[in-house]
Amino acid sequence: MQIPPIAENESQLQYIERLTNHYAKEKSRKQKKDVGQFFTPSPIANFMASLADSKKEHIKILEPGSGIGILSIALIEKLRKTNTNLTSIELALYENDASLLPYLSKVMEMTKDRLRKDNVELNYDIKNEDFISSNLKYITPHLMPFFEGNPLAHYDIIISNPPYYKLNKKDIERYKSGEIIPGQPNIYSLFMAVSAGMLNENGQMVFITPRSFCSGLYYSTFRTWLSRRIHFSRIHVFESRNNIFSEDGILQENIIAHYTKKKPSGICISTSEGKELTNITKIHVNENDVIYRSNGHIFFRLPANKTELEIIRELDKLPKNFYKLGYKISTGKVVAFRNKKYLKKDISNKNVPFIWMHNIKNMKVNWPVEKKQKAKAIERNNETERFLIKSGNYVILKRFTTKEQKKRFDMGIVFDSDFSEYHYFALDNMLNYIYDPGNRMTKEQTFGIAQYLNLPIVDKYFRILNGHTQVNANEVYALPFPDSKKLGEMGALLKDKAELTSNEQKGLMQLIGITQSRVEAFK
Ligand SMILES: C[S@@+](CC[C@H](N)C(=O)[O-])C[C@H]1O[C@@H](n2cnc3c(N)ncnc32)[C@H](O)[C@@H]1O
Repeated sequence: MQIPPIAENESQLQYIERLTNHYAKEKSRKQKKDVGQFFTPSPIANFMASLADSKKEHIKILEPGSGIGILSIALIEKLRKTNTNLTSIELALYENDASLLPYLSKVMEMTKDRLRKDNVELNYDIKNEDFISSNLKYITPHLMPFFEGNPLAHYDIIISNPPYYKLNKKDIERYKSGEIIPGQPNIYSLFMAVSAGMLNENGQMVFITPRSFCSGLYYSTFRTWLSRRIHFSRIHVFESRNNIFSEDGILQENIIAHYTKKKPSGICISTSEGKELTNITKIHVNENDVIYRSNGHIFFRLPANKTELEIIRELDKLPKNFYKLGYKISTGKVVAFRNKKYLKKDISNKNVPFIWMHNIKNMKVNWPVEKKQKAKAIERNNETERFLIKSGNYVILKRFTTKEQKKRFDMGIVFDSDFSEYHYFALDNMLNYIYDPGNRMTKEQTFGIAQYLNLPIVDKYFRILNGHTQVNANEVYALPFPDSKKLGEMGALLKDKAELTSNEQKGLMQLIGITQSRVEAFK
């Protein structure tokens, strides 16, 4: 294959970007997507490299999923500028797509020559292997103690933009990923896990990944696993819908994080808009602002500015969380398209009310509502009995919200009296419902839960805790809450009023003990 040479006045990174385009022309978007090939633009590569640092004479670097090596080259350039002690670099590059190797070898040979002129020796090793299979021992718990003590296998710096796709069944078995991440994880998380196991005791790693591992029950074991091995020292969050990999047709929320093996004194969180990384703002936070432990789970919270930081610190002072209040949140049990034959338009006496998303509006459950093609009731019989919810006091929440939506908690309230004549009702599985299994939740407390969730600061807290738009039980259980007496007082005050005035919001915040100065800042 003919690989174009570097042009005069072209930087190494510009050259790699040109090679990437050359390579990309040979492959379809789908081919690249299937193997998780989204190449890093040079501003991002430089930014990632700027986060790592070492003053060592001999540095061992690893780039898993190296593509054409843009991250390694950016890192080497950075180290050459900042580390005058540097005499040699040992670089391991894992890339399992053989069609990229001619480009990668070309770039590495060129870099080796350049470094030699500066009396820096580069020994690189391109491994045309599957990074996970080749290094499974680093995440196999019973082998871990042995490898923890093996200095030869451990790296000073690992830098990666790992592949991104869901593992299939065969990979899950091959990688034994179930030990760290149950279910069908995304491969990027395994790249992180294996890499975390390959760092030496002063090691550091820089990864660009989706932020999906920071919350959600799914990645809970992984977060625990990771936080036992490495620490965040810097996190960069891309504000708004970022467009880093937009040319490859992939839009997702990404973070760049610098992790260290040794615990840092604090964490710096920065934010910027778009992929050029201009207008970066920074805040400095403590580890427990980010690492949030609740009900036996760990969440990675990413407050993006001072106000967000103050909100989490203030609400963390509340005496309870949802789980500790003894309430429960469950998901509606009726998958409508699978149970079409039981869904009815009429409310005869053998049917009970059926609630969909469209019945929920402004803190109310409007039922019945005439809507074309939509059933109002569900037949009560032996098959549907398991779907039914006993009439009582409930807050009903939409599970899915859009990114643009003003409020993450879009909810309505039902009381025992609303459906008592039917004794039961049923919910579409796009809805969650909050209830007291002991049936002691008063009307005021029911209003109070809804009013608490309706507060803008609680909405903000939830968004920081929960990176995605879905409202899942795991994050609701972890949400700090006032005690049930305070909830009752909040409910008595404002009932189901959906749009609160600024004074009403202030009143509620004061009621739950938020200090006057903070109330002014948060309103
Ligand atoms: C997101 S791309 C990043 C490429 C390059 N590091 C960059 O930043 O532009 C991930 C790379 O990992 C490679 N890859 C995917 N699965 C891999 C595996 N199991 N082992 C090694 N490399 C893999 C892909 O071929 C792709 O080149």
